[in-house]
Amino acid sequence: MCGIVAYIGHREAYPVILKGLKRLEYRGYDSAGIALIQYPPHNPSDQPVITVYKRKGKVAELEEYLAAKDLHSHVGIGHTRWATHGEPSDRNAHPHLSGNGRLAIVHNGIIENYASIKQELLNKDHVFHSDTDTEVLIHFIEDIQQNNQCSLEEAVRIALRRVVGAYVIVILDADHPDTLIAARKGTPLVIGVGKGEHFLASDPSPIIEYTQEVVFVNDYEVAIVKADELVLKNLGNERQTPFIQKLDLELAAIEKGGFDHFMLKEIFEQPDTIFDSLRGRLDEQQGRIIMRGVEEYMQKFIDAQRIIMVACGTSWHAALTAEYMFEELCRIPVEVEYASEFRYRNPVIHPGDIVMAISQSGETADTLVAIEEAKRAGAIIFGICNVVGSSIARVSHAGAYTHAGPEIGVASTKAFTAQLAVLCMIALKVGRQKGTLSNDRFIHLLHELALVPDKVKEILQQHDQIKHIAAKYATARDFLYLGRGYNFPVALEGALKLKEISYIHAEGYPAAEMKHGPIALVDEHLPVLFVATRDRFHEKIISNIQEIKARKGQVIAVIHEGDEVVPQLANEVMVVPQADEIVAPILNVIPLQLLAYYIGVAKGYDVDKPRNLAKSVTVE
Ligand code: M6R
Repeated sequence: MCGIVAYIGHREAYPVILKGLKRLEYRGYDSAGIALIQYPPHNPSDQPVITVYKRKGKVAELEEYLAAKDLHSHVGIGHTRWATHGEPSDRNAHPHLSGNGRLAIVHNGIIENYASIKQELLNKDHVFHSDTDTEVLIHFIEDIQQNNQCSLEEAVRIALRRVVGAYVIVILDADHPDTLIAARKGTPLVIGVGKGEHFLASDPSPIIEYTQEVVFVNDYEVAIVKADELVLKNLGNERQTPFIQKLDLELAAIEKGGFDHFMLKEIFEQPDTIFDSLRGRLDEQQGRIIMRGVEEYMQKFIDAQRIIMVACGTSWHAALTAEYMFEELCRIPVEVEYASEFRYRNPVIHPGDIVMAISQSGETADTLVAIEEAKRAGAIIFGICNVVGSSIARVSHAGAYTHAGPEIGVASTKAFTAQLAVLCMIALKVGRQKGTLSNDRFIHLLHELALVPDKVKEILQQHDQIKHIAAKYATARDFLYLGRGYNFPVALEGALKLKEISYIHAEGYPAAEMKHGPIALVDEHLPVLFVATRDRFHEKIISNIQEIKARKGQVIAVIHEGDEVVPQLANEVMVVPQADEIVAPILNVIPLQLLAYYIGVAKGYDVDKPRNLAKSVTVE
């Protein structure tokens, strides 16, 4: 969702900002723009001015539009916009100017009370040129500055005390071309610290090519950024100490590395990313799992009357899989909640409840507000995030990172399997410590988990066969995905991947539930994908396959190697290595990721940036 880049320093600002916007494209957007402080040609001693260029469409279109322009400047801001208030259009694209054109703003988030502020400003004859809440904010700041005869910094603080909602803003000031003012609440802002230069961005990807030293700005902080100085203050004007962290991110991690798409690269990275999730934690030799965050809260887990899992999208599917794991291995009741529903239905939360928040980005607004609510009610928040230092990671009492590395493809793949690996380790550790899991089974499952990366490699070798199946079914209008037990969340995840990437309508269902409605959809045109690996439901799922065949449905099945029954019934099979049902979801989802990917590509879609989707959903 919206991306922000800004630069101040000795380099040309435009190339830095443009490249940064390209790096942020994965977040999802529908328009892009930049603003630079420039000195009018022919008379450099004139007052500097702000020039704004913005366009509906891709960053590449903006770049083309700017090709012949004079963009010389050492300070500027850039933005990719994912529309919330106002349709995607040139006029609604950021940056937005203040009434007198001396300030320009880029914003990520939503100003919830913008309508009442706008009305106040309209009463004072402010004229707006867009439908956005962002333009209202910069007019509001300008209005405060003029009325109070105060500095921009002070006007920003006053405005933000009135604002309800989430925001990251960066403001250019033509009257102070040596300073950028930025602030955040609820959505992320990273400042890269260079030598005589600073880089501001929504995440580190636009920054790491220039510096690995960064400051993650905290909520309610205002940053006053000059080329060679960074001052942080809170909204009460008290100075805060910037905490400079060294990132350990290589440029290669955010580049395609020879793959056609980030999604494919990330699918293929999974043997390594799952290994990284297990590394230093799963100790097969000593028969133990080392996870400091869990160890510190072990007694709380053992005493917990229940665990509530909150998440969205793919992370919600990981949570659902974890419900099966925790109930079976730890005998703790688990409730799995859509974060967006949980927050607003007055949930019953008891002190001592453990709320596990699962999120790749760690910035999903729905998940963030859900855990803030749970925290207020006295729950213990355990965060499982991929992005180090993200908001959810920071507000959690304890947690575990998934260590999947940057995930750029909008469709989550490697983050999901890393979440499953981490959740599985936690369930194993708690179950063993609580005594609900026998030592023999614990040791067996440790071994099973350790084998996963190599088994994923084996599955990936079948990419050509899966591509072939994808070509056959790419014209389908609908798909049904079915699974039981641990394979039910896998079916849901497979259906979500297909919807996101290929725009084919797909539904995931528990296989047995099919008889209670969806079976009415089945005819010779409907592909039905069964996750049918051998587990305690195998006989039953074979009956479900028969039911579909009897109605002439096309069956595609994910099966275990050595299965001789399902291949006789299915039109197509995708084979995965044998595994215990508790770790099987990590393997069984891989063919479904590949199938969705190849169908999306066969249909000619931009699988890394599917329409309407944002990588990290930072608005509720
Ligand atoms: O960053 P999060 O894991 O919190 O994101 C949650 C969902 O927005 C995300 O999983 C979304 O559903 C993906 N596009 C799925 O591929």
